[in-house]
Amino acid sequence: MSQGLVTAAYIVSALCFILSLAGLSKQETAKQGNILGITGMAIALIATILNPETTGVQWIILAMVIGGAIGIRLALKVEMTQMPELVAILHSFVGLAAVLVGFNSFIDLHPQATTSVVVSAGSDLQATLEAATAAFNEAAKAAQHAQLTGAMLNIHLVEIFLGVFIGAVTFTGSIVAFGKLRGMISSKPLMLPHRHKLNLLAVVVSFLLMLYFVNAGGNTFAMLLMTLIALAFGWHLVASIGGADMPVVVSMLNSYSGWAAAAAGFMLSNDLLIITGALVGSSGAILSYIMCKAMNRSFISVIAGGFGTDGAVSTGDEEMGEYRETSAEEVAELLKNSSSVIITPGYGMAVAQAQYPVAEITQKLRSLGVKVRFGIHPVAGRLPGHMNVLLAEAKVPYDIVLEMDEINDDFEDTDTVLVIGANDTVNPAAAEDPTSPIAGMPVLEVWKAHNVVAFKRSMNTGYAGVQNPLFFKDNTQMLFGDAKDSVTAILNAL
Ligand code: TAP
Repeated sequence: MSQGLVTAAYIVSALCFILSLAGLSKQETAKQGNILGITGMAIALIATILNPETTGVQWIILAMVIGGAIGIRLALKVEMTQMPELVAILHSFVGLAAVLVGFNSFIDLHPQATTSVVVSAGSDLQATLEAATAAFNEAAKAAQHAQLTGAMLNIHLVEIFLGVFIGAVTFTGSIVAFGKLRGMISSKPLMLPHRHKLNLLAVVVSFLLMLYFVNAGGNTFAMLLMTLIALAFGWHLVASIGGADMPVVVSMLNSYSGWAAAAAGFMLSNDLLIITGALVGSSGAILSYIMCKAMNRSFISVIAGGFGTDGAVSTGDEEMGEYRETSAEEVAELLKNSSSVIITPGYGMAVAQAQYPVAEITQKLRSLGVKVRFGIHPVAGRLPGHMNVLLAEAKVPYDIVLEMDEINDDFEDTDTVLVIGANDTVNPAAAEDPTSPIAGMPVLEVWKAHNVVAFKRSMNTGYAGVQNPLFFKDNTQMLFGDAKDSVTAILNAL
């Protein structure tokens, strides 16, 4: 394949990626969007393999076969509810790849260094490291004259340094996000004293190291020290963010992984990787911004780590008065006597896989002349658009699925609201209690409806670990049990 054809193929894939993003922005076109993304990636892979500059094709193919097999197995095995963890761990791979590409580009700058240090069995580790550092520094200076010079060398060194920094932050940050989403690490924020100052210090020291690194024409010690700082910084940044802010963290890491890929593209002089990385980076940043707005969080404060968590985290198990229990038969009766119903699903609907009976109940009520609509909170569930995907899967018509802003004013005039496995996203404390950890987060104002039925299995809290006063309100009744069983029982009673 000629170089010109490779470039043309890269342009076509870049276009496919742009059109894919446009398709993914609407439910109706999301499938085409996905297909375009897959097509773009397939073209890019084929063009890269057939590129005359590519060497070691057999290794690339072997890696693709192994990676592809693992990917297919994981994708087939993963539950919809585990999607965010999968996304988080995939981001960590992108970060790690950027770090490895960075180190490789650095070593490539001065290949002599790799042969000039001999490590014998009895050699002292410190002496060996010093020798290696000296050799790298020598070689870097040589490279300044031999390969790249002046501004070009400096630009390349900045690319390497920034690529490794962003990659390392993404790597450990994504691992912590994975641990938190998986429940392996507590979702409570890590509250180190002076945590914001620590973050600032990490950034300032890394910046100074970058200046030193560039001035020295590449310096192994500065590179290694920055990598350690960036790994710790990424870890701390995400560890200090509380459960309720996790959705923003996942999309923010998505953005970081894009910038890490773009940085790798600069290091490898690969235009397609730069474009793709920039697309992922900017779309992730836009998504983070939209989610921050949905949760009334300041974007800058969230990306600085630990915003919105002043340490006053509720234990979550406090009782807030009496609650009333109801039965499936009573709810069926209530629904039959309602003229308008809004269903607000949450993470529990995904866990129970209740979307199918929910779709059936919707159809049944509509056939009885009841006006049924859905109210979707932007962060309901565990990943952006989680509820929309489930409802689309169960073939609920798009035109009755409304966003929070579109439906929030209608609760007052609604007879019955069914809160199916949602908790934080319908918590009135967010709107009414300034001391609540989720204070200020816009929520679906379901409590304004005439009747509310909350479907859950217990009085446990939701993801943010905050108790919900909605369950203790006079117009709320609790229907305990698995959401799928409860909805099916109501369907039978209808
Ligand atoms: P949550 O606040 O997590 O509440 C889910 C509720 O579902 C819980 O009260 C749980 O109560 C109930 N539940 C679980 N399994 C159930 C089952 N089988 N049957 C019936 N009920 C069940 O959910 P939400 O309202 O959707 O809010 C989302 C939360 O997740 C927010 O805090 C958000 O910040 C966070 N989050 C969102 C994302 C994205 S991107 N959307 C990503 C990560 C985290 P029981 O245990 O008593 O049944």
